Amino acid sequence: MDDTHRPKYHYLPARGWMNDPNGLIQFEGKYHLFCQHNPEWPTSGKVLWGHAASDDLVRWSHLPHALFPDMPYDSDGVWSGCAVNDNGTPVLIYTGVHPEVQCIAIGDRDMLHFRKYEENPVIAAPPRDLEVTGFRDPYVWRNGNEWLMVIGSGIKDKGGAILLYRSDDLRKWEYLHPAFVGDSNDTGEMWECPNFIRISDRWVLFVAVNSRSIYFVGDFDDGRFVPVYRGETDLGGSLYAPQVFRDQSRRVVLFGWLWERQSPESQAAAGWAGVQSLPRVVTLSPTGHLDFAPVPEVDSLRDDLLFHSTMTDLKRGFSLELQTNTIEIAAEIEPQDFGVCQIAVLRSPDGCEETVVSCDLGARTLSIDTTKSSLDESAVRELRSVRMSDRDGRVSLRIFVDRSVVEAYANGTVLTARVYPRKADSTQVRISAGGVSCPVGSLDVWRIMDVSPTAATFP
Ligand code: FRU
Repeated sequence: MDDTHRPKYHYLPARGWMNDPNGLIQFEGKYHLFCQHNPEWPTSGKVLWGHAASDDLVRWSHLPHALFPDMPYDSDGVWSGCAVNDNGTPVLIYTGVHPEVQCIAIGDRDMLHFRKYEENPVIAAPPRDLEVTGFRDPYVWRNGNEWLMVIGSGIKDKGGAILLYRSDDLRKWEYLHPAFVGDSNDTGEMWECPNFIRISDRWVLFVAVNSRSIYFVGDFDDGRFVPVYRGETDLGGSLYAPQVFRDQSRRVVLFGWLWERQSPESQAAAGWAGVQSLPRVVTLSPTGHLDFAPVPEVDSLRDDLLFHSTMTDLKRGFSLELQTNTIEIAAEIEPQDFGVCQIAVLRSPDGCEETVVSCDLGARTLSIDTTKSSLDESAVRELRSVRMSDRDGRVSLRIFVDRSVVEAYANGTVLTARVYPRKADSTQVRISAGGVSCPVGSLDVWRIMDVSPTAATFP
């Protein structure tokens, strides 16, 4: 808990390694988040399913681990998968390794005990007629009276693919066909962690490929997906293998694995690795791409208001000396044709460490610059940029700083970075616009509460 890089309001297990979010579901009102987890060591190894629950998506309690690698078909690891509500019974669907096979575990309604099905694996091998590059990460949804499933895969020399299956009871599965195959030259030969969900009047496919998380928006008819748009889920370079689910209020909510961007030695010394992103509401924009925004529940984590101003011009710039590195900055930037609003966070007073979030108002880009984030030479340093949507020239910017996590949202786009400042006084915020006029309607900085769970407190 003294580790100055360990986040205080993003979810992570008590110790060890975590990667993909799994089995996201709201079951009888409570949110459940499972995850790929190795409690023994901050590297992946034989992962099990960690488990946490929450009433509001932001305050989590650790629960006992849900699934262990304890059967012949999953003894090398209980890999990623999803959860569904089968008429009041929670069912987890996951990949056991090796080889990659699909399995299910049936839960009690208390969501504390999960029994692996006696006839696992429920899908013992990939389709025979395909030369697949992988076969994992089932994602299941209800379609009328049946269940449909896509499995992350790829067809050799062709491209990443999602394989479509159907079932009446989650136990017997029938292979249908590839619902969509990508182009290997463009989007790789293997797609991990497919998520397939209806948003407004479209179908959206999320896949994780070669360290990137991409999505397609399109139509799904007769079991075939036809995309009309492709986008990036988070171009900050730190988010991978996101999972989405529809909650009881019908929102589509996304969590993603924020991996470490420091050396394996520093990771081993920390004793933990991997964080979940803030929960993000995913919506379809009027122009057909996806918009991402923190769920409104995140606002309930705001503690003291550290700074507040209305109708200021950032032209001259100023610094805020803060005693905390868990903050949110919210700025409403007024329409303007040029100028760059720069917000440096986790900055040392001498300026030798800082992470800079910039909005270029003329070019309409959002950037995050980690080239000076840490004096530690082994930490990743880069400049990442993405185009922002136009909202009548206005930009609503929200930056969440949680020690080693920086999430920057602007007009529906998000960039996330992991950063590792070394200096104890790297807690300053500096806001500037390079001497050019940059009016902001409001600018607020809050301290965010420490909601790190410490122990199981459920039920
Ligand atoms: C994605 C992934 C999945 C797999 C899991 C194993 O990060 O490689 O494809 O199921 O992690 O931990």
